Amino acid sequence: MNYRTQRIAYLFFATSLLLLSLQIVYGFIMAFAHSGYDVLHDIIPFHVARATHTNLLVMWLLSGFMGSAYFLIPEETQSEIYSEKLAFVQWLAYVLVGVTAIVGFHFHWWEGRKFLEIPRPLDYLVVIDVLLFVYNIGMTIWYGKKRTTTAVVLYAGLVSAALLYLPGMIPTDHQTADSYWRWWVVHLWVEGVWELILGGLLAFLLLKLTGMDREVVEKWLYVIVGLTFMSGILGTGHHYYFIGTPSYWLWIGGLFSALEPLAFLGMAVYAVVLAKKGGRRHPNQNALLWTVGCAIMSFIGAGFLGFAHTLPMVNRYTHGTLVTAMHGHLAFWGAYAMIVFGIISYAMPKLTGRKVYESPTAAFAFWSSNIGMVAMTAAFAVAGVTQVYLERKVGMDFLAVQEEVEVHFYGVILAALLFTSGIAAFIWDFIRYGLPKQERVEDVYGTDFIGA
Ligand code: HEM
Ligand code: HEM
Ligand SMILES: [Fe+2]
Repeated sequence: MNYRTQRIAYLFFATSLLLLSLQIVYGFIMAFAHSGYDVLHDIIPFHVARATHTNLLVMWLLSGFMGSAYFLIPEETQSEIYSEKLAFVQWLAYVLVGVTAIVGFHFHWWEGRKFLEIPRPLDYLVVIDVLLFVYNIGMTIWYGKKRTTTAVVLYAGLVSAALLYLPGMIPTDHQTADSYWRWWVVHLWVEGVWELILGGLLAFLLLKLTGMDREVVEKWLYVIVGLTFMSGILGTGHHYYFIGTPSYWLWIGGLFSALEPLAFLGMAVYAVVLAKKGGRRHPNQNALLWTVGCAIMSFIGAGFLGFAHTLPMVNRYTHGTLVTAMHGHLAFWGAYAMIVFGIISYAMPKLTGRKVYESPTAAFAFWSSNIGMVAMTAAFAVAGVTQVYLERKVGMDFLAVQEEVEVHFYGVILAALLFTSGIAAFIWDFIRYGLPKQERVEDVYGTDFIGA
């Protein structure tokens, strides 16, 4: 690694992969419950498993983003992290709050709001923890030798993500207002400011891996940021169709959210073109695979499958069904899980001085997890479309329909097994890398690849 304090990223990456493993366990619990084998019902009923599954997802992704920032910011600013000790304390606090929240869910200590279940007292701790993180990264950039667009876009994404946690804490006892503010967090995160984080991380990886000029890469980054905000802010309206908000949201939400795929399409084209044009054959082709794969899969999962149910005339049928779960899986996987995997794949050799990326398990991890996730998405799609037809066209009862679609969850389970084998391979490689070096070491990719 080029800077000693980058080693702190390792803790966040390891935490990330541990929480992902747990998330997968809860995914299987739900998939079995859906297919008629709700054997753990008395201990972990479906709603507990669901809240745990989705919150673990958010937690491991945030841990991945924080680790990525601690790794990337020193390289971009050409300086050590402002305070490694603070980074460590902030990591520890994050883990403690996360574990408390997850355990609490099993005792019904939560707020019944999808994705924002974390109880209020813990929300305040999350805010403090994220402030510490943002402070530490901010000071690193402030005192750094260089201030690049990539670092600033990433930082803007991180700070806005922290700020956008707050609307979810606005007190209200009105169902519509509650839903209204919940979407400021959930939607403006994944279809707004998290896209800045994604854009920053993507730009960093493309700069390092393709050898393209910084000027070209960062010019594209501006275009993507522009497209994201032009469509994503008013695109929030696609969640305001049926929650009791005024009817003008039908056309505002429909129109602007229909433009959102453009930003994801932009990212996919950007990654593919730069990877082709770059002309540099970086030794770590596996990291490039994750990077370009991320840009393509996020377009399919978020852009294409998001568009599939975003217009009000479609959404009135698909709203809140397994069609949403179909889109949710591939969008989160393609955009945010894969970018974290991309950074980990690029960073681990530099942190440890080892070259596990050359092993067959590295390629296996990419292909099995991706093919598995695409297959899982397809199984959710079949179940979802069947559900929509039987429940909303034929008019069958919700639970009767759930029985009809049980069989499709065998498909979900099979695909999930393939997916899990890929994740297991990735984690196995992560373990084989070993612990990060305690001191600055020679760059494992060779001196040609330090710059950019
Ligand atoms: C990486 C970006 C994205 C991620 C991670 C993501 C993820 C999700 C998730 C998890 C939900 C369920 C949320 C809930 O019910 O609480 C959802 C809902 C939705 N998403 Fe996305 N999404 C992304 C981008 C998009 C885009 C670009 C579009 C439109 C083009 C879109 C359209 C929708 C719609 C219409 C719903 C509401 C579904 C319903 O009515 O049940 N999403 N998304
Ligand atoms: C072994 C792997 C997995 C299995 C078997 C699985 C299964 C499930 C099931 C059964 C649900 C509940 C659907 C419902 O409400 O009826 C769910 C929800 C969800 N899962 Fe997974 N999952 C897995 C991995 C993942 C991964 C890796 C991600 C993200 C990258 C993810 C993201 C989500 C999201 C966002 C939701 C909420 C969707 C919504 O709001 O409708 N899951 N999962
Ligand atoms: Fe949205």
